[in-house]
Amino acid sequence: MDFHHSTSLTVYLLSILGYCAGQDALPSGPVNGTLGGNVIFKTTINPTTLFAISWTFGEPPVSVVDFVSSAGSVIGVGYVGRISLDNSTGSLELRKLTLIDSGTYRVSLRTADVIQVGSTSLIVYETISNVTLRANVIDLMELNDTVIFSCSVSSGSSPFSYRWLNGSSEVTARYGIQLGDGGRTLTIANVTRYDQGPYRCIVSNPVSSKPSQNLTLIISYGPENTTMKVTPLDVLYGSGSNLTLSCSAESSPSAQFQWLLNGTLLSNNGPELRLENIQANQSGSYSCWAHNTRTLRYQISEPSDITVLEPISGANITTTPNSSIIEGGSVNLTCDASGAIITREWMKDGHPLSAGGNIIISEDKRVLSINPVKRTDSGEYRCRVSNPISTANAKHGLIVNYGPDGMEIMGPSEIEVGQKITLTCSADSIPTSSYTWVLNGTEIPGHSPEFTKEKSEYSDSGDYTCTATNNVTGNKTSVVHKLSVKTEGSLSQGLSAGAIAGIVIGVLLVLGVAVGVAVYFMKIKGFFKKESSRSVGNTGKSSANGGGPGGNQDLNYADITQFQKRDGGSVQLGNLGTSSTEYAQVRVNNRPGQPAEPPTYKSHHS
Ligand SMILES: *[C@@H]1O[C@H](CO)[C@@H](O)[C@H](O)[C@H]1NC(C)=O
Ligand SMILES: *[C@@H]1O[C@H](CO)[C@@H](O)[C@H](O)[C@H]1NC(C)=O
Ligand SMILES: *[C@@H]1O[C@H](CO)[C@@H](O)[C@H](O)[C@H]1NC(C)=O
Ligand SMILES: *[C@@H]1O[C@H](CO)[C@@H](O)[C@H](O)[C@H]1NC(C)=O
Ligand SMILES: *[C@@H]1O[C@H](CO)[C@@H](O)[C@H](O)[C@H]1NC(C)=O
Ligand SMILES: *[C@@H]1O[C@H](CO)[C@@H](O)[C@H](O)[C@H]1NC(C)=O
Ligand SMILES: *[C@@H]1O[C@H](CO)[C@@H](O)[C@H](O)[C@H]1NC(C)=O
Ligand SMILES: *[C@@H]1O[C@H](CO)[C@@H](O)[C@H](O)[C@H]1NC(C)=O
Ligand SMILES: *[C@@H]1O[C@H](CO)[C@@H](O)[C@H](O)[C@H]1NC(C)=O
Ligand SMILES: *[C@@H]1O[C@H](CO)[C@@H](O)[C@H](O)[C@H]1NC(C)=O
Ligand SMILES: *[C@@H]1O[C@H](CO)[C@@H](O)[C@H](O)[C@H]1NC(C)=O
Ligand SMILES: *[C@@H]1O[C@H](CO)[C@@H](O)[C@H](O)[C@H]1NC(C)=O
Repeated sequence: MDFHHSTSLTVYLLSILGYCAGQDALPSGPVNGTLGGNVIFKTTINPTTLFAISWTFGEPPVSVVDFVSSAGSVIGVGYVGRISLDNSTGSLELRKLTLIDSGTYRVSLRTADVIQVGSTSLIVYETISNVTLRANVIDLMELNDTVIFSCSVSSGSSPFSYRWLNGSSEVTARYGIQLGDGGRTLTIANVTRYDQGPYRCIVSNPVSSKPSQNLTLIISYGPENTTMKVTPLDVLYGSGSNLTLSCSAESSPSAQFQWLLNGTLLSNNGPELRLENIQANQSGSYSCWAHNTRTLRYQISEPSDITVLEPISGANITTTPNSSIIEGGSVNLTCDASGAIITREWMKDGHPLSAGGNIIISEDKRVLSINPVKRTDSGEYRCRVSNPISTANAKHGLIVNYGPDGMEIMGPSEIEVGQKITLTCSADSIPTSSYTWVLNGTEIPGHSPEFTKEKSEYSDSGDYTCTATNNVTGNKTSVVHKLSVKTEGSLSQGLSAGAIAGIVIGVLLVLGVAVGVAVYFMKIKGFFKKESSRSVGNTGKSSANGGGPGGNQDLNYADITQFQKRDGGSVQLGNLGTSSTEYAQVRVNNRPGQPAEPPTYKSHHS
């Protein structure tokens, strides 16, 4: 025992000298040890033959181990079985660490000619366990509440360091986020929905590091962004359509939904409102109302206008008066239909009709007024009624009643006895007129527009009056036609009428020129004046008609022809010249068609 004591003392003294020589056999510490664990104090020298090694602990030094190459090791009290010494480097392993092993360790190493010394310190730490994370509240309201986390360790040696994680990202102090109590607490002011976590704290000391359990916050927010969607999305819906309105909102917990129509709550709940077989009276402004039962906040979506239109049906046109539209009167065509009418259009005979002239169309285009109504207004009228979802057409055939007018009688003015008489009376009239014939004031039975008699007699001569009567307009019109029945053969010769006419024209031309020249010269000489004026007097009718100025020889002649022509077929013609050629002349002159009509052909309204 003495020997050992003396050697360790020697080594100790030598080590002080060696230290003074500037050698340090141990790296600077501290060495961190775990409670119950092992540490190795490694020297800085390379393996060599060491004559003596001495390890001591604390102040005053207590021997841990003394080694002399010649005698072996002597292990200090309390270290038996806990140490291992490397006799070639002097490194020492210390096992089963306790808290009282913390302190300063010194070593002295002696080689053949040098003594090296070194010292270091050991700190034994307890590992961390049972890290617990707590929060003052877990259930928070966005922007209203502040959370304070605290992290605690139930066992382990300080010093502790704390790290905070939100999910996998580190939480560091910034605006609204504070770390306190040496990093043991975390304060998040006015939490947002993005602050829900999960949160962990990780506590470390030099020998260990432990995370806490995860802690997740419940952050209530919303409703926000309350949006309503209508499917199918349209501007207008036909009645009978099915629509779905769905509402969404950013909210935690999930929002409760209710529905509003024109600002009034409907009885429906839930995020979806199904409108089946929707009718026009369900049109209006729809919106949804989102409510968060926790935040007690609510939000109303932007409204959507839903317009339901009834399709058009039963289009019809009615007229006032509803029957017997008479030319010159007025008529209203009214276009009606059931359903939602957006536009009306009028067409006549397939062409669009617009106001103007005798046509007035009411502002809403429902009534088409024709005043005065004309016969050309007859036709097929169509009214097209439409709304964006449907179209309907109505047709009405309009008949304008008019006449009779434009009357005339077709047929000869003279006829030979025994020949067939055919007189045809015609008139413009809707509906067709009924006709009656009167001869010299005596009615002929029958209502045909045509008067015929197979064999004419002299007694058939006379004034034939045709009267057309329109039962709807109530109008009556008459025309008179003179017919004279002549002796057999008086109207036809051996030669054809054309040949006679040719000859007559020739003769007359020559005669006319001759007479004309003669008359001219006579006139110059002052003859004939009285006679010519008398002629004018005789033909008073014609001057009234033709505007012959009279008092002129040339015109006088013209007057005569006119007279003949105008009176063609009248008995008076015989007075002027009884020859048949004279008559033929009348016929010929008749053809070129003088503008003035013979009085017999003139119609007159009764
Ligand atoms: C031991 O821990 C301290 C701080 O706790 C550190 O500075 C030192 O480097 C650690 N020692 C070793 C050897 O890791
Ligand atoms: C040094 O240690 C080695 C093995 O660790 C051993 O064999 C040798 O005997 C030791 N030397 C002395 C002098 O004890
Ligand atoms: C962890 O620590 C808490 C108190 O901080 C304690 O109630 C609990 O029993 C500990 N659990 C363990 C396994 O040590
Ligand atoms: C939120 O905070 C405001 C004041 O900041 C308060 O008036 C309101 O009542 C709070 N909301 C709830 C649901 O507590
Ligand atoms: C805690 O949360 C993190 C991040 O989400 C995850 O990686 C980890 O596994 C969680 N730990 C536990 C104990 O649930
Ligand atoms: C938290 O909200 C309150 C009230 O709204 C406000 O006065 C305060 O400044 C906010 N704090 C932070 C860190 O945003
Ligand atoms: C609403 O939603 C839009 C996009 O979906 C988003 O850009 C906006 O920030 C949201 N507003 C709120 C208040 O959440
Ligand atoms: C609307 O829904 C009803 C029943 O759900 C169905 O009978 C009907 O055909 C649907 N109408 C349309 C236009 O799809
Ligand atoms: C809603 O309001 C609109 C416009 O004021 C109205 O036309 C519609 O009939 C209303 N709907 C209901 C169901 O009251
Ligand atoms: C047609 O309608 C107009 C205006 O609506 C009215 O003044 C006129 O009397 C109507 N005419 C008939 C024939 O009904
Ligand atoms: C024309 O249509 C309207 C609207 O649908 C209806 O009230 C009326 O009875 C119809 N008239 C006829 C003659 O069909
Ligand atoms: C009709 O009157 C004309 C003379 O005005 C006469 O010549 C004719 O014989 C009369 N006819 C009848 C059938 O009375």
